[in-house]
Amino acid sequence: MTSRKDKLPVVTLDGPAGVGKTTLARRLAEALSLPYLDTGAMFRTLALRLGPDAASLSPEELRRRCAAWPFTLEGTGAASRLSCAGEPVGDEIRTEAVGLLAAQLGTIPAARDILKEAQQKLGARGPLVAEGRDMGTAVFPGARFKFFLDATPETRALRRQRDLACRGQHEELAVLAEQIRQRDALDRGRAVAPLRPAEDALIVDTSALDIEGVFQVLINHIEAHGGRAALA
Ligand code: DC
Repeated sequence: MTSRKDKLPVVTLDGPAGVGKTTLARRLAEALSLPYLDTGAMFRTLALRLGPDAASLSPEELRRRCAAWPFTLEGTGAASRLSCAGEPVGDEIRTEAVGLLAAQLGTIPAARDILKEAQQKLGARGPLVAEGRDMGTAVFPGARFKFFLDATPETRALRRQRDLACRGQHEELAVLAEQIRQRDALDRGRAVAPLRPAEDALIVDTSALDIEGVFQVLINHIEAHGGRAALA
């Protein structure tokens, strides 16, 4: 059995699209003064740079192209900054079209390998909060704290509709629910590292909670099991 000492000083947050992972991971990182690693942003960035033809590239060609786009992570909490080939990752990756492209890239085993190596390299530099789909299962299986957030597709679609409304955009609920179902199918159905909770993850059903309520569940769990000191 591994003791607490043997665990990686990493907090992993996994879950499906639209469950609130990004907001929560950022808040946790802020509360714990740790860097925040958004691995979805890494998939999105490479998907945007590679374009829709990524699936037709050989693993060697994929590796050759991605070698020109190394990732770096600087700062902590809300000031965490992810860069790719020296350029800060910006809002250009935050569209539903790029999200779908990223989910498609995520089904390519060679792309997952390339990104897993890049993520582990960032994790080897010190403690962090890592958010994604396979953080607790494949990338940081030895992480000290593992969380898996879930909610029904309907709840996630409704939340996304509210987020968009706050930004002055309107989208039909049925359209958002369909986008979420499409992404769930790609994320949960892929052959390599499909979306699923790690055996030792704390599963949090967020359907009946707001962001603050979920944050309290996560931070209380960490505090009850050694707190920030357990991530030294
Ligand atoms: O978290 P997000 O919506 O930004 O992620 C976009 C897509 O990237 C997601 O649908 C699947 C892929 N992804 C992945 O396969 N593995 C991760 N660790 C993170 C994201």
